[in-house]
Amino acid sequence: SRAGQTRHFLDLDRFDTETLRRILDLGAAYKRGEQPFGRPKPLSGRVLAMIFEKPSTRTRVSFETGMKQLGGDTIVLSKGDTQLGRGETVADTARVLSRYVDAIMIRTDDPAKLAELSEYATVPVINGLTDDTHPCQVMADIMTFTEHRGSLDGKVVSWVGDGNNVAASWIQAAAHFNFEMRLACPPELMPDAAAVDWARAQGARVVIGSDPVAAVKDSHLVITDTWVSMGCTDTNRHTLLSPYQVNDGLMAHAAGDALFMHCLPAHRNEEVTDSVMDGAQSVVWDEAENRLHVQKGILSWCLL
Ligand code: CP
Ligand code: NVA
Repeated sequence: SRAGQTRHFLDLDRFDTETLRRILDLGAAYKRGEQPFGRPKPLSGRVLAMIFEKPSTRTRVSFETGMKQLGGDTIVLSKGDTQLGRGETVADTARVLSRYVDAIMIRTDDPAKLAELSEYATVPVINGLTDDTHPCQVMADIMTFTEHRGSLDGKVVSWVGDGNNVAASWIQAAAHFNFEMRLACPPELMPDAAAVDWARAQGARVVIGSDPVAAVKDSHLVITDTWVSMGCTDTNRHTLLSPYQVNDGLMAHAAGDALFMHCLPAHRNEEVTDSVMDGAQSVVWDEAENRLHVQKGILSWCLL
């Protein structure tokens, strides 16, 4: 089944919608306890290396657990542990790791490192977050919305706060799943223009402004994320973003059955209040759980 190119999982703008649906379906099948490849340990004997140049709880544990549940194994390489930290190039690292392992996940700052890794690796490369995007997260988010509310088709999804990496992957998702993507961000923290231009060129409805109330009005899903992403050194963030807190007052403008999502980790009572995070509309724990199921879908698509 591996005819053609190496199956990298880089960004949602590199996929056709059918493939993304296939990955989501695989994840859902695993979640139901099914064996979509007709055997219990389809990745038996396979090894995933994971390079972490930034911290992680969910991404690390969900990939590691998912790989092991599918019969495979993992190796975790932290920043500083490898020769990357001493200047060996990403390209050479890719060439070498490809001789040992069956797939490589990387979490890094500069998306150019992800691109270089995928160019020189001869095994699948998975994007575990860069400063620009976080596609595995948004796949889990889409799975979560679908479970709770059915299709995203025709829905309104609202992003409130920093126009960051997770927001960019959501914008790319709008080009695949036919929902209206509305963002309310401070003018200084607008989402990645390339992601917006690409999505709009595909016909996606992406509405961008700086008014949180307008963005969440009658919305079916309200999402936010930390005001200070990993690696961010900007100290003015709290002042800029405090008007964008997701609290009960803001949620009241959304549709009555709107869901709330946050990729986590949350900074409680900064970007989201305890009342929303722990409230009836919040699906953040399902969202975190679904990272595991979606990773298994991604790994299976990459390797089987
Ligand atoms: N949401 C997410 O990617 O979490 P981690 O940083 O814990 O992996
Ligand atoms: N935007 C956050 C997501 C963490 C999973 C960050 O990049 O730190």
